Amino acid sequence: MRDRYCGKVSIDDVGKTLTLSGWISGRRDLGRLIFIDLRDVTGIFQVVFSPDISPEAHERAGDLKQEYVIQVSGKVQNRPDGTVNASMPTGALEMYVVSFQVLNTCKPLPFQLDEENVSELMRLKYRYLDLRRPLVQKIFLERSTAYKVTRDYLASHGFYEFETPFLTKSTPEGARDFIVPSRLNAGTFYALPQSPQLFKQILMVSGFDRYFQIVRCFRDEDLRADRQPEFTQVDMEMSFVEVDDVIGMCEGLVASIYEAIRGEPLPLPIPRMTYEEAMEVYGSDKPDLRFELPMTDLSDIFRETEFGVFRKTIDDGGAIKSIVLKGKTLSRKDLETAVGITKEMGAGGLIWIRKEKEGLQSTIVKYLKDYEKSEMSERLHLSDGDVAFIMADAKSKVNDVMGRFRLYLGDKFEPMAKDQFKFLWIVDFPLFEYSNEDKRFVARHHPFTSPQGSIKDFNGDYESFKAKAYDLVLNGVEIGGGSIRNHRMDDQLQMFKLLNISQDDAIEKFGFLLEALEMGAPPHGGLAFGFDRILMMLLGLESIRDVIPFPKTQKGTCLLTGAPSKIPQKQLNELRIRLTGEQQ
Ligand code: AMO
Repeated sequence: MRDRYCGKVSIDDVGKTLTLSGWISGRRDLGRLIFIDLRDVTGIFQVVFSPDISPEAHERAGDLKQEYVIQVSGKVQNRPDGTVNASMPTGALEMYVVSFQVLNTCKPLPFQLDEENVSELMRLKYRYLDLRRPLVQKIFLERSTAYKVTRDYLASHGFYEFETPFLTKSTPEGARDFIVPSRLNAGTFYALPQSPQLFKQILMVSGFDRYFQIVRCFRDEDLRADRQPEFTQVDMEMSFVEVDDVIGMCEGLVASIYEAIRGEPLPLPIPRMTYEEAMEVYGSDKPDLRFELPMTDLSDIFRETEFGVFRKTIDDGGAIKSIVLKGKTLSRKDLETAVGITKEMGAGGLIWIRKEKEGLQSTIVKYLKDYEKSEMSERLHLSDGDVAFIMADAKSKVNDVMGRFRLYLGDKFEPMAKDQFKFLWIVDFPLFEYSNEDKRFVARHHPFTSPQGSIKDFNGDYESFKAKAYDLVLNGVEIGGGSIRNHRMDDQLQMFKLLNISQDDAIEKFGFLLEALEMGAPPHGGLAFGFDRILMMLLGLESIRDVIPFPKTQKGTCLLTGAPSKIPQKQLNELRIRLTGEQQ
């Protein structure tokens, strides 16, 4: 139906009679001449209707409207001097239409494609129109490039591509499962995979050596700007590897995707930081390093303090930490807002001290001893005008609140170059973490992660036992995570034991894995990237929904199709499901 794409007509086509097809993206009716911008996925080409070329086509062209789908034929020629549009690749060319047909009409649109502030609700309801906008299309063309780069990189490094089941058994990635009732086995359910974790491990046991899959994962969790209930992972696993092998391979992949999208090489290696340092200094296991604002521990300076708030913190075994804002002029209102914000974040209080020519200014200064003031100034490198924010509380609380407060300060006071890309590996994660919900220690990553050293050497200290686990962070967002796994059945069983999962439970849930580990499982490890998150970040977008063609809303609904929806009673009967109460 066409000889060229609209955006691909070139200077070599001048003088040729071509047929083009596309959408009417703009029209200007100058009476004798009617100009139409014809658009397709590759770009725009200008076609002109003139009574001198075809009186019939010119007359019918009067009825053409925005977004009609048409097919035109005519001769390509150079635009007359003075009418060239240098901002368009085809801006020096045009076509005088000899004949055309309308392939489809278009109703008045709910919003114009070039309209800027269209609500997300409208954009998602009429997603096909939203996706027709050139800027939105560009995102998905980039996404398509990223798939290709990923496949090319992994294939050239000896990875084989697999598909693993969607109708499967629960995998413990820490979220809730989506479940699917089985009609053939009424009363039983499949779980949609939160990740293909166990299948990829099984493929290593089968000897495939290097696996990858670009795969949809399903997690029923509360949604945020960087979370969707179904999202895409680039999932990888390798045999006979240690942490550095996996990290090295993944860096190469990230660098290829980065270069394809940003058009410049990514300097490697990506820096690494231990989990402990990240928590101590940035209060987060995914620090945004586009700005500094580190936390400095002052607890030891105040060991002998008589200032009540600090005294109590020290006696309770808590921490006193500070973040310094350098060289900024803060109004009293700025300071009050800062205090208010940390309160909202759960702080009992926030102290601020300003260094001025005459000395330190703050309501608490009178309670501090001279050596405390001078040691604090020295450690924080305070210069005139600097403001030190200080929080004293239980250490986990200080790290958590100050970590979030740091992001607020960075956002408000540090001019963050938006096009900076600060990649960072977080390594040496703890193997366990305490779950307040379950009132017990759970796996920090997932229960198949190997500890550093032998699990048989575990001395009962859940908090300090470290894992061979790593996350990749970009500008404060976790874009990937993985680990070396337990490849021996006795180690895996011991891990379940430490997690308080009984042998019977372990066998019931993961018996197939335990059995496989007993039949010649090689040492193995891997990682999964959040593909949507990487794209969101590299394309500088605010929401993961912008890089997913048909995303769900914050409430997990699809505005285009209306999913989730009720199903007929007959279908429920087949599944032996009866709804209760309000849901009926
Ligand atoms: P993990 O649970 O860390 O690891 O997931 C890997 C990466 O997937 C992305 N991600 C998400 N993206 C969008 N929406 C979500 N709801 C969502 N949840 C996670 C993140 C995350 O870093 N099986 C392990 C990997 C392994 O051990 O090899 C796993 O799934 O970017």
